[in-house]
Amino acid sequence: MKLKPLIIGNWKLNMLRNEAYCFINFILDNIPATFKGNIAIAPAMVLLQTITEKVYNSKIQVVAQNVAHKLNGAFTGESSVSQIKELGVSMAIIGHSERKQHFKETLENIFLKTKICLSEQVTPIVCIGEKKFDSVEKVEKVVNNQLDSILKSISAVQLKQIIIAYEPVWAIGKGIDIDIFRIEKIHQWLRKKIGVDTCLIYGGSVTPKNAKKLACIPNIDGFLVGNSSLNANEFLEIVKAYL
Ligand code: PGA
Repeated sequence: MKLKPLIIGNWKLNMLRNEAYCFINFILDNIPATFKGNIAIAPAMVLLQTITEKVYNSKIQVVAQNVAHKLNGAFTGESSVSQIKELGVSMAIIGHSERKQHFKETLENIFLKTKICLSEQVTPIVCIGEKKFDSVEKVEKVVNNQLDSILKSISAVQLKQIIIAYEPVWAIGKGIDIDIFRIEKIHQWLRKKIGVDTCLIYGGSVTPKNAKKLACIPNIDGFLVGNSSLNANEFLEIVKAYL
């Protein structure tokens, strides 16, 4: 691993303000001084302001779970990247599989959102991954198509400003055993495709149990964590995998 580790907790549609405060207090009080990576939290949109204020000047960064594909206009219910940036949000998750499944996000949407984030200097965390369990060769083909559609008109410089989150959809939210060898092979292939300067993180059933093994995979720069980010103890254990 060449880049600093990045561990992101994606809270999805969970956490009320007081729960979020308790979580953050616990993490800030307990981050080991020897941890040299980055920690980030992706709360629901309505909590972005209060959470950015809460973590101001601390070791925790704030991530949006989504952004609109446009900067302004008649798009009821959306939030633009310039609006989240104004709050102090530095990154946005783009194209999470739950957005594809429940909100019909397409590769074209994801491409537009990635571009608009780059234009506003907010780091896009672009999610890719196969829906069904398949052979590594087939997975590489699927993921290659997804990557090509997003990276099609992105410059080499911009590629370094993107974070790629590889998340096998079938492993998300399941807490299942991860085949480390398989994950290692896929990341090796991904690394060849995107180069050494692009942050590449893994998501899908990351837990305190498997975090250490996953953290040892050379081409993984960190994690996107769902379920285990709802419990401050578990999340901290995952962070500690990078000590
Ligand atoms: P999980 O979710 O850690 O619960 O598998 C990961 C994600 O949705 O990014």
